[in-house]
Amino acid sequence: MSQILVTGSADGLGRLAADALLDQGHDVVVHARNPGRAEALAPLVDRGARLVVGDLGERDDVRELAATLAETPPDAVIHNAGVWSGRAVMPVNVVAPYLLTALLPGPRRLVYLSSGSHFSGRPVLDGVDWQGRTPGSYGDSKLFVTALAAAVARLRPGVPSNAVDPGWVPTRMGGAGAPDDLELGHRTQEWLVTSDDPEALTTGGYWYHQERQQPHPAALDVAFQDRLLAALAQETGTTL
Ligand SMILES: NC(=O)c1ccc[n+]([C@@H]2O[C@H](COP(=O)([O-])OP(=O)(O)OC[C@H]3O[C@@H](n4cnc5c(N)ncnc54)[C@H](OP(=O)(O)O)[C@@H]3O)[C@@H](O)[C@H]2O)c1
Repeated sequence: MSQILVTGSADGLGRLAADALLDQGHDVVVHARNPGRAEALAPLVDRGARLVVGDLGERDDVRELAATLAETPPDAVIHNAGVWSGRAVMPVNVVAPYLLTALLPGPRRLVYLSSGSHFSGRPVLDGVDWQGRTPGSYGDSKLFVTALAAAVARLRPGVPSNAVDPGWVPTRMGGAGAPDDLELGHRTQEWLVTSDDPEALTTGGYWYHQERQQPHPAALDVAFQDRLLAALAQETGTTL
């Protein structure tokens, strides 16, 4: 049994993953953006989940969240929270997972939610509005977080760090008509943070329905990864 944090678990894939991990007997840390949204997590808390709260679009909240979590650091993190459009895209989809990765001591497994949309992302860092003063590009954000997962895999040997494309599935983000399988949309994340299957313990992968695939070449480009980490370190004042 291990303690697993699932960010953005009030709804969608995060909620489903947290629910399934609780069913499997794991210690789960659920996360909501604010106390109002935390109410949606009451059924999971009643079943033993620990609750943490913090708006991932607010950098001070992310730091406070990391400090709270660091008191009893999770063994694994599923960086699941995400937004499709608007000004929160870069703060929530990229800056928050970066900061939590940098600030949380010692998780033994890390999963970052990517997307097939990352293939449309541009590996261009000049002019990226990390603070979200203007709307961000979802495709770019998912390329960046996929590169972050690969960079962490390279820099933290022994800590499996992987990106997952859950498929286009019918959550609030995916929409009711999304064609892919909702169940398969969260199973890979659960498998990567819990399984002793040697495949699940590999690192630096980009996964779709428990199959390793090739991501956008920039995600595996060490020079691009280093530029991304440098940009995020400069922006946040926190190094990985
Ligand atoms: N669904 C798809 O087809 C699909 C495809 C590819 C990738 N993904 C990725 O999969 C992940 C989960 O997506 P989903 O489909 O489950 O989306 P969703 O149904 O919209 O759920 C997103 C979750 O993230 C939370 N969240 C968003 N902004 C937050 C913030 N500022 N602070 C804290 N929590 C925040 C939401 O909380 P609230 O409920 O309070 O807003 C919610 O719990 C995302 O990273 C997404 O990009 C999804």
